[in-house]
Amino acid sequence: MRRTITAVAGIAIAGLALAGCASGDSGKGSASGGSGDNSQVEIFTWWASGSEKVGLDALVKVFNEQYPDVKFVNASVAGGAGSNAKNALASRLKANNPPDSFQAHAGAELTDYIEANKLEDLSSFYKDNGLTDAFPSTLVDRLTVDGKIYSVPSNIHRANVVWVNTAVLKKAGLDATKAPADMDAWIADMKKLKAAGVATPLSVATDWTQVQLFENVLLADLGADGYSGLWDGTTKFDDAKVTTAIDHYSQLLALANTDGTGQDWPVATDMVIDGTAAYNVMGDWALAEFDGKGKTYGTDFTTWPTPGTEGTFDFLADSFTLPVGAPHPEAAKDWLKTISSAEGQKAFNLAKGSIPARTDANKADYPAYQQGAMDSFSKDTIVSSLAHGAAVKVSWLTDVTSAIGKYVSDKDGKALQDALVQAQTKGLGK
Ligand code: GAL
Repeated sequence: MRRTITAVAGIAIAGLALAGCASGDSGKGSASGGSGDNSQVEIFTWWASGSEKVGLDALVKVFNEQYPDVKFVNASVAGGAGSNAKNALASRLKANNPPDSFQAHAGAELTDYIEANKLEDLSSFYKDNGLTDAFPSTLVDRLTVDGKIYSVPSNIHRANVVWVNTAVLKKAGLDATKAPADMDAWIADMKKLKAAGVATPLSVATDWTQVQLFENVLLADLGADGYSGLWDGTTKFDDAKVTTAIDHYSQLLALANTDGTGQDWPVATDMVIDGTAAYNVMGDWALAEFDGKGKTYGTDFTTWPTPGTEGTFDFLADSFTLPVGAPHPEAAKDWLKTISSAEGQKAFNLAKGSIPARTDANKADYPAYQQGAMDSFSKDTIVSSLAHGAAVKVSWLTDVTSAIGKYVSDKDGKALQDALVQAQTKGLGK
């Protein structure tokens, strides 16, 4: 059965700033609204089903061992990349009814919550628990605003990964172990697949996966510096390389399934797993989906950095917060301690496909894919994911998502580029 999700109708975190400052909303650094009862902890994520729930369950198992007296209350809301969860969370925060901790991406998305005074400063939690040096500075920088640290990372994911069905490539005489050099070479291979009878060379799912695919093409065509410049304005969206990227994107969409919109990411990844499609560009949470379906890395499937992005790690990280007014703040801190512990990170990341945020993790504890990702993270140029809250604030991402949604149906490249120019101007506050 295909998993369907509700389309994103404009994520509302940005609206938080307008939500007013009712009780418990008195600003950065105010005390959490705990009742003194810490017998339970309500944790909000979008890891509600399938392989993502397996990851959450692995974390909860460690939490239950470490804190047997605290009941874990699962407040997950289904929909990949938080496509439904972020709106649900925004409503709860607006009503001053926060969970005890919620999932948020490191980077610009976190800034949205911080600016809306929704998060407690966790700097002293870091000091008390010896966490200040536990995470790489590239990550801690993205969790810090004005010298204060606002969340605890559970993992690091990579968003520029192509998942490849080796047997399907064989049909067109393609060697899955060799990644095409760039977008043009990859598109040429897809055309060979099509000619060999593979109806869907590339699989895509709903809107945010279409944005994630576009982000990969931008990275391939602009390079790491050009891509990163899009988010601080040093690269303009009317750049000729963006026009090239839109052209490549249009060719990719012409080689992809057309029924993705409204389908959650596992639908597209499963198409590669079952051999309906040759390729899927997906973050490395896809590894858990392949594992769950009993597929073997290196035999049934392989991965490469998206052609043209070799040497760059398109980064995102999940992290957990202590919201202002959390009902059970001490229990929330217990949860944050589990997440940041070596044991919690190992259990979670082994199940999730991501790599641990802690720098003291033992590479040998992880299977081949993650060992490769750890190597890449340590030596590649790191850039921030657009689709997963690292690069831009949520209102900007919402504008990009609607522009891409419109493009996927009308294929008007000029209108897309104009809309991206406008989104950048607005996003940078110019
Ligand atoms: C990302 C998140 C990942 C994974 C993915 C698909 O935004 O960081 O952990 O859950 O969405 O839902």
